[in-house]
Amino acid sequence: MDYIYCANYEKTSQAAARMVAREVLKNPKAVLGLPTGSTPIGMYRYLVHLFEDGLVSFADVKSFNLDEYVGLNANHPQSYAYFMYDNFFSKIDVLPGAYDLPRGIASDINVECKRYDEKMQKMGGIDLQILGIGLNGHIGFNEPSHDMQVRTHCVDLTHDTIQANARFFNSIDEVPRHAVTMGIGNIMKSRKIILLVSGENKRDILQKTMYGAVSPEVPASILQFHSDVTVITDIKL
Ligand code: GLP
Repeated sequence: MDYIYCANYEKTSQAAARMVAREVLKNPKAVLGLPTGSTPIGMYRYLVHLFEDGLVSFADVKSFNLDEYVGLNANHPQSYAYFMYDNFFSKIDVLPGAYDLPRGIASDINVECKRYDEKMQKMGGIDLQILGIGLNGHIGFNEPSHDMQVRTHCVDLTHDTIQANARFFNSIDEVPRHAVTMGIGNIMKSRKIILLVSGENKRDILQKTMYGAVSPEVPASILQFHSDVTVITDIKL
């Protein structure tokens, strides 16, 4: 795994945005895998600046988001669809219909998972996947477990994740208990991966991810088996 240390959150966000923009300039038709959470907000902000300055265009890009809460529609302010539109899609030239997220309100979640996987495959897979990481090592919403799921699937969120994400909701009771997420197999098939990690509270999990045993108990540790992962972080290991 390549490791890029940046002095602070802003520099981490800039470095990630520049790397994404470089990939899009190299391949304007790139298929991107996109994350949510508080960590990538700065990266999206810098990507919007680069777009506004005429340095990059997303007109031919396609994207798939990692995950979505079950039960929240795209108008819910805490849905990932809303997050993406608010922070990124509404501010760049990506075409409507060129980006997709799992639909958390699909009447049959299994059918929705299949639709998502088939569409990703049809688009030729993901060229560049950007990831954040949960405090418990989850990527997307692939929670620590005894095994790893390959494809897009529905998960029961762990108590830790529900608690960690409660800060975005009015109360912990409002946090959905389930989510749809790309599987570890979908993520590992991406040709290139950026793992964006910020904040001292993630030091321990970053250490385990990069240097610990590869185990489904630390889902991000599987990234050690990928040949093109760049960790961009403000944590000096
Ligand atoms: C959520 C998302 C993850 C994200 C994680 C970390 O659980 N499903 O994709 O990596 O949050 O979020 P944050 O960046 O806010 O710590």
